[in-house]
Amino acid sequence: MARKIETALVQAGRAPVRHYGFVNPPLKRGSTVLHESIAAKKEVGQRAAFEPVENYGVMGSDTHFALEAALAEIEGGTRAQVTASGLSAITVPLLAYLKTGEHILVPDSVYGPTRSFCDSLLKRFGVETTYYDPMLTPAALEALFQPNTRVLFTESPGSHTFEVQDIPALAKVAHAHGAKVFLDNTWGLLHFAPFEHGVDVSIHALTKYVGGHSDIILGGVVVNSEEDWRWLRLGSLELGNYASPDDCWLALRGLRTLHLRLKAAETAGLEIANWFAARPEVARVLHPALPSCPGHEIFKRDFTGACGLFGVVFQPAYSAEDVVRMIDALTMFGIGASWGGFESLVLPTTGTIRRSAGTGRFEGEAARFQIGLESVEDLIADLEQGLAALKGK
Ligand SMILES: Cc1ncc(COP(=O)(O)O)c(C=O)c1O
Repeated sequence: MARKIETALVQAGRAPVRHYGFVNPPLKRGSTVLHESIAAKKEVGQRAAFEPVENYGVMGSDTHFALEAALAEIEGGTRAQVTASGLSAITVPLLAYLKTGEHILVPDSVYGPTRSFCDSLLKRFGVETTYYDPMLTPAALEALFQPNTRVLFTESPGSHTFEVQDIPALAKVAHAHGAKVFLDNTWGLLHFAPFEHGVDVSIHALTKYVGGHSDIILGGVVVNSEEDWRWLRLGSLELGNYASPDDCWLALRGLRTLHLRLKAAETAGLEIANWFAARPEVARVLHPALPSCPGHEIFKRDFTGACGLFGVVFQPAYSAEDVVRMIDALTMFGIGASWGGFESLVLPTTGTIRRSAGTGRFEGEAARFQIGLESVEDLIADLEQGLAALKGK
């Protein structure tokens, strides 16, 4: 019987008998691993490419392997590779899989640095990118496939604009064309089971809720077949990808309380999203759990919950300057990139996002809110005075 997610988060990756009984795996830093003989070194070397055995620092230590085992289990996959950052959890598998002359489909709502990577480095290496509307029907998406399309990249919900994609339907089209489905599943952590919905490669910025304290930079890639594991692992080794063991250790610690923190973020996020939805200054709220968000029906079908990150579109009467004035007036929301930490954050959407397939336009200016673990009452009081500033009061 598969253990429940709460149990997996507590137990996965721990092996106290191997660590003198200590509850947590140790933080192991190191480059050289010593072997008893040349024969022993050779034997370990042959296994280390694909198995969790310590051979040389860059190939990983117990600390990395513990986190990778836990990630694979909570995602429902077979193997995982940690990477230096959330962005490298995107670039490493793309570089490992694609080659010159191939084509990739990427949603217009993709995380900005993923777009930059496609438009600069992938382009220089002769890989062509087509951006598609994340809400395209499967039939319309099919028309964008070329004989050389090797990857359908997805991100659901989309960065800043929160479109929820019909991953199972789009994956069917991709697989019919022999393409792999990559998903940036950072927002859907614990709430979207990638491999039950047709995904081949699931990507996470562990920097967000797994770290949970705005103090690490880390990524993870999970796959569900031996074939996918082999190209991912080889590519990762060839690229010299290495994640800090200190950050892996903190991520392991973060995993143990992840479901509690996510639950708190979901509850507070929904309370504040609903509060915004009832305000006259707001045109609509881009929270996947609310009907006003593109793809809400798909969210209800495919997700088991939400995190605390969502968007708010203001009435067209308010300008970008009004929204900036509101943000500057907030005292409990930090102004800064990232999300998933214990503290609340806000960023304007306008001026932040880049789009090239005509999506991401709403009736008014928008902002993105990350709801932290503060009192909801305090946050709403702060937002009240922020909305007064929006109106120029
Ligand atoms: C959806 C998404 N994917 C990936 C990343 C990249 O993560 P990192 O900051 O660890 O590189 C981010 C960061 O904001 C993100 O929002």
